Amino acid sequence: MSELDTLRTELLAAVNAAADLKALDAARVDALGKKGRITGHMKMLGGMEPEARKAQGRSLNVLKDEIAGAIEARKAALEDAALDARLAEERIDVSLPARSTPMGRIHPISQTIEEVSAIFGDMGFSVVEGPDIETDWHNFTALNFPEGHPAREMQDTFYLPPKDDGTRMVLRTHTSPVQVRTMLEQAPPIRILVPGRTYRSDWDQTHTPMFHQFEGLVIDESTHMGHLKGCLIDFCKAYFEIDDVKLNFRPSFFPFTEPSAEVDIACNKKDGQLRFGHFGDGHDDWLEILGCGMVHPNVLKNCGLDPSVHQGFAFGMGCERVAMLKYGIPDGRSFFENDVRWMAHYGFLPLDVPTLTGGLSQ
Ligand code: DAH
Repeated sequence: MSELDTLRTELLAAVNAAADLKALDAARVDALGKKGRITGHMKMLGGMEPEARKAQGRSLNVLKDEIAGAIEARKAALEDAALDARLAEERIDVSLPARSTPMGRIHPISQTIEEVSAIFGDMGFSVVEGPDIETDWHNFTALNFPEGHPAREMQDTFYLPPKDDGTRMVLRTHTSPVQVRTMLEQAPPIRILVPGRTYRSDWDQTHTPMFHQFEGLVIDESTHMGHLKGCLIDFCKAYFEIDDVKLNFRPSFFPFTEPSAEVDIACNKKDGQLRFGHFGDGHDDWLEILGCGMVHPNVLKNCGLDPSVHQGFAFGMGCERVAMLKYGIPDGRSFFENDVRWMAHYGFLPLDVPTLTGGLSQ
């Protein structure tokens, strides 16, 4: 075998044995680089006889082309193999079911707002929102709170710094100001549900400085207290997902309603477990769930309505409170601690959207 044949065999073997692009480049440098073996033979051509140089030059060129071609072929094969490996590794089986364990959860407050909105939406209420930062007039005065009413006290209400004219905005202490905004903007008949954040200077197991309420308002020419009762009984049946619900309408006082009532729901506390329904076994108890009443004539007047023509009812309910009752959540502060373990336990699956037909909380 000639010297060039041996060189050819060795170079081709090195090229074809290269396991990756780096090894292939090393083989290329060894063959064709400045100090490569073929290049070394090329350099010797100058010292040869013309005839021999011609023949050797041609052979070297053929060899060079062959090795360059082999390198290209090997490079393409290695790139193909790398692509195949990557495709195999990154393959996604789109027919596999979604993994449920690491999925995020819907917060019980969001879930409760969805559930309550679905129920009142089904009764023909529209969902309306209002600003968290309110004027004193919308939050108190228009709602018939007299000057000096205890709810206006600094220790209960968060006030913003006074404006140039001396008035102070407040973080709304309830969702009731949205009643006022709606009556000022929209002619009756009105049927709205107002979910939203509210603020009071309070912090214990059942109070947080920020919490959520639902406000309901119905205004037309004929709605009366009987409609209010029927509406809230239907709501409780749907929300607590039981048929034998028992409510107690207890006379109460709010500046913005007359007459006013607080509503208690009967529950059973047998073995320390809170359940709705199952009454009459000696473990009954009553839990307050909301306030309500017929809208006070002064409120109607403050909103530009004539109380001899228009009337209606309103109610207000704590979102955390009804969520705690329904889902057995013992501490209201836990809603806002952002503990993922709590969320995994009390949260809801994002794809289980609450509907009356499909089930609220299944
Ligand atoms: N605004 C009351 C509160 O925050 C709740 C309330 C009671 C709202 C009676 C109403 C109502 O609309 O009629 O405690």
